[in-house]
Amino acid sequence: MGKNTLTITDNRTGKTYEIPIAYGTYPTYGAYIKTADLRQIRVSDDDFGLMGYDPSFGNTASCRSAITFIDGERGILRYRGYPIEQLAERSTYLETAYLILYGELPTRQELDAWTAEVTHHTLIHESIKKFLDGFHHDAHPMGMLIGTVGALSTFYPEAKEIHDAATRRKQIVRLIAKTPTIAAFAYRHMRGLPYAYPDNDLSYTGNFLNMLFKTTELKYAPDPVLERALEVLFILHADHEQNCSSTAMRTIGSSHADPYSALAGAAGGLYGPLHGGANEQVLRMLQQIGSKDRVPAYIKRVKDGEVLLMGFGHRVYKNYDPRATIIKKIADQVFQVTGTNPLLDIALELERIALQEDYFITRRLYPNVDFYSGIIYQAMGFPVEMFPVLFAVPRTSGWMAQWEEMLTDPEQRISRPRQVYTGADVRDYVPMEQRGGARVA
Ligand code: CMC
Repeated sequence: MGKNTLTITDNRTGKTYEIPIAYGTYPTYGAYIKTADLRQIRVSDDDFGLMGYDPSFGNTASCRSAITFIDGERGILRYRGYPIEQLAERSTYLETAYLILYGELPTRQELDAWTAEVTHHTLIHESIKKFLDGFHHDAHPMGMLIGTVGALSTFYPEAKEIHDAATRRKQIVRLIAKTPTIAAFAYRHMRGLPYAYPDNDLSYTGNFLNMLFKTTELKYAPDPVLERALEVLFILHADHEQNCSSTAMRTIGSSHADPYSALAGAAGGLYGPLHGGANEQVLRMLQQIGSKDRVPAYIKRVKDGEVLLMGFGHRVYKNYDPRATIIKKIADQVFQVTGTNPLLDIALELERIALQEDYFITRRLYPNVDFYSGIIYQAMGFPVEMFPVLFAVPRTSGWMAQWEEMLTDPEQRISRPRQVYTGADVRDYVPMEQRGGARVA
């Protein structure tokens, strides 16, 4: 291989520039130039210099990160180097969260201490219960989660000490411990049920099921298959590098806001139907289609550009989403306990037809994580409104890891993109009486 540089000739001036090329872990997946190096390319002394224009960050790395690796061409997802398939098979959510946050799989002692720490922070302040009570009975639980997580910043003002490693760690533990409690309480509020307090004898997902579904029994016993299925779903959703919500987490965190405010913003990003809100929309779409024989008509509407096929497509994955493959497998195990979900047949038919159609093949659109997760959640008894919440709870560990990495990265400053201004040139203020008729629709 030749020199690790890029030579650029500016044909406006005839000048040539040599810019360094750098790499991440893999030379063939992560070679980059610093766009700041383009600024030296100018036509005159008062020229600001060349910028990169990349709406929606389609080809711009906003950070160097050691947390999650995705190769979208080959359908690879790894946390800290470990393949997602192995973690889904052998790990637990809390162990994976530790790995994502601290970079290594914990020893037995570390895992026990971590589990105990998280378990002992699951309770929320009684005032937060009152805060939740204030929501209307039909409030969407994701809105309740976002609002309540944001409100936590008022309970933990020391969280503002974002430069103190021990304080940061405390908030990380609190958030991983308390998001399931808030999520479950939001669900109980929605259902008009009394809140069920955490049970420290249970696993992270077992306790979550307890807080959601406990009724009059003295001790809730989670079904082990459902408890494990939720564990796997949580592992799959734990992190996904620089997606919309992690970018929101990093961007808000870069202004040195407290982590609760930043996480509320990240969860807001997740809520949208193009990101974590897609799982809810997949179910609504399947319900709207209603039966297998109506699938071709729906596919036609997608091809005509009237609607999106929710749960299909991804900015990065262009062959398959490895999370969707794992989810499809656990669906069978869940359905053995819950009975099958009649919407599954419609989903399978949608996938079968879509994968044969030119529209989807040429655009490289495949089922993503959200296509089958909702069908499982529904079979487990969750209402559709809870689906984005079930994405947000495990993503908390990823958001916190991204936040921690951003704050401790000396190359990171406040997030502040440039723009290409396309508006009016300077002009003088026009008095009201000289402005003529309406010019703005
Ligand atoms: N249904 C129909 N057409 C689609 C879809 C879809 N689901 N996704 C992309 N396309 C088309 C899009 O219209 C465009 O067509 P054309 O080239 O003719 O204009 C082409 O495919 C390229 O799509 P894009 O919108 O440029 O792709 P993107 O990378 O900007 O968007 C996406 C990625 C995930 C937002 C998009 O695929 C989408 O809206 N999917 C449906 C929502 C969804 O399932 N989201 C969950 C993503 S996975 C969970 C997560 O981690 O967030």
